[in-house]
Parts: sequence; C-alpha cells; structure tokens
Amino acid sequence: MQRDDEKLVEYFANPPEDISLGDVDLDRLPSHISVIMDGNGRWATRQGKERGEGHVAGIKSLRETITASVRLGIDVLSAYAFSTENWKRPQHEVDLLMHLFATTLVKELPLFHQENVRLVFLGDIEALPAQTREVFEQGLSETANHTGMTLALAVNYGARAELSRAARLLSERVLAGEISPEQIDQDAVSSSLYTAGLPDPALLIRTSGELRLSNFLLWQLAYSEFYVTDTLWPDFSRWELLRAIRSFQGRDRRFGGVIAK
Ligand code: IPE
Ligand code: IPE
Ligand code: MG
Repeated sequence: MQRDDEKLVEYFANPPEDISLGDVDLDRLPSHISVIMDGNGRWATRQGKERGEGHVAGIKSLRETITASVRLGIDVLSAYAFSTENWKRPQHEVDLLMHLFATTLVKELPLFHQENVRLVFLGDIEALPAQTREVFEQGLSETANHTGMTLALAVNYGARAELSRAARLLSERVLAGEISPEQIDQDAVSSSLYTAGLPDPALLIRTSGELRLSNFLLWQLAYSEFYVTDTLWPDFSRWELLRAIRSFQGRDRRFGGVIAK
C-alpha cells in the first residue's frame, strides 16, 4: 500500500516514552491487522457511566485506528463490531449499537473518501434493522472503487455462521454441477467466506484482556499472531497499535516449519 512519509511522521509526532514510530520496521508491517474491539462497557462502568457511553467513546478509537493504519500503509484492517451472539444483550443496548453504526458511518463517509478507504462488511448485514442496512449498503457502494486500505467491519458476524454458510454455498455449487466435491479444497473454502479475496490477518489484537476469540474468524486466524492488551477499547490509541506491531515483529513466524539457522 502507498504511504505518505511526511503525513506518517506527522501523525506519529509526540510519542509517549516507551514507543515511537522508529520502533517498528515499516518494511515488515502486517498486511492485515484485525481487532476485537472489546471493553467499552467496562470502560463506562468504571467511570460510573452507562454502557452506551462506552460505545460512543469507542468510536474515536476506531477512527484513530483507521487513520493510523492508513498512515502506516496497512492493506487491510478488520474490526469486530457486533457478533451473532451480541443480540443477547438488552434490547436498548442492541438498538443503541445499531443506531450508532448507522449515524457514525454517515458521519465518517467523508473520511473514507478523503483517505481512499474501501469498506466491506463481514457478516449477515441483510438481517440488520432497515436504517442500518441502508446506510451500510450506501457505504459499500460509495467506497467500492476506492483503492487504498480495505476496512472490513464485522457486524452480525460469527465464524460458525460464516463456516456453515460456506458449506451451504459450496454444496449448492456442487448440486448445480459447477464444481465436483473433489474440488472443495482450502482455497474453495476461503473463497466462500465473507473474507473472500482478503489476506488472512497476520496480527490479531484484542483489547480489555480477554483471552478468547468469541467466535471471530476461526478459519482465517489459523496462523495469526495474537496481541492481547489490558487497555480497554475506548483508551486504545495509535501508540497501542504501534506496541502491537512491535510485538508482532519480534515473533518468529514458523508456520509449522523450522527457522533456518
Ligand atoms: C465491545 O465492548 C463492543 C461490543 C461488543 C459491541 P463490550 O460492550 O463487550 O464491553 P465489555 O466487554 O462489556 O466491557
Ligand atoms: C466480542 O466481544 C465481540 C465484539 C467485540 C464485537 P464480546 O464482549 O461480545 O465477547 P465475550 O462475550 O466477552 O466473549
Ligand atoms: Mg465485551
């Protein structure tokens, strides 16, 4: 991805003590960074606020993560915003989230145009409330020809639902005589997922300290490096992103092989 070095240096000016742009190798950045944006509710509760205020506060962290990733020249940023299990939350919280998704996207579309960001969704967005779905469809079509970073927002996403859907899509193709069962290999499965065409995440970040996947990208994360931070999502910043990348770059990625000495 193209990078504007001047803008990059400016964006990462005034670093905290422990991390700066110089600590990451710009030639070895993960091409796809994935984030489980967790901890909004706890952030709010700890301050005596309603959980919803945590979701509102989390929006600026996503905006900052998008901008920081664009500045760094990351190809794909994916972010888990609403899981297939999150429907279990109190109705007023679900309603607020759906409303925030729609209003925030309308407000942020100019940023996507300015930064040449292409928006895609992971998950079943057909099942979302009409207002949210319409704004999402508008976001999809208006940014479809953008050639910069791809932002993949996981909304009404669950990996098990995604994998079952892939099995259905593939069996329909077999029944239609388009492919034979023998042609169902790993590439065929990958191309039947919501992430078709995107590289697998190299780095998965989860905020708020939880050590679980919560039904996120089970197939795609097979060889991703994990970075879990206790930072709650509304406190996540460009610096925490750099810390995650620094940690990622310090790992040996063996993919089951051995590192040549
Ligand atoms: C993540 O924050 C946002 C969504 C899942 C929509 P949470 O709302 O899960 O916050 P905690 O985990 O309860 O603190
Ligand atoms: C995962 O967070 C889903 C999103 C961040 C959208 P949750 O807060 O829903 O996950 P659990 O309940 O802690 O596993
Ligand atoms: Mg949570």
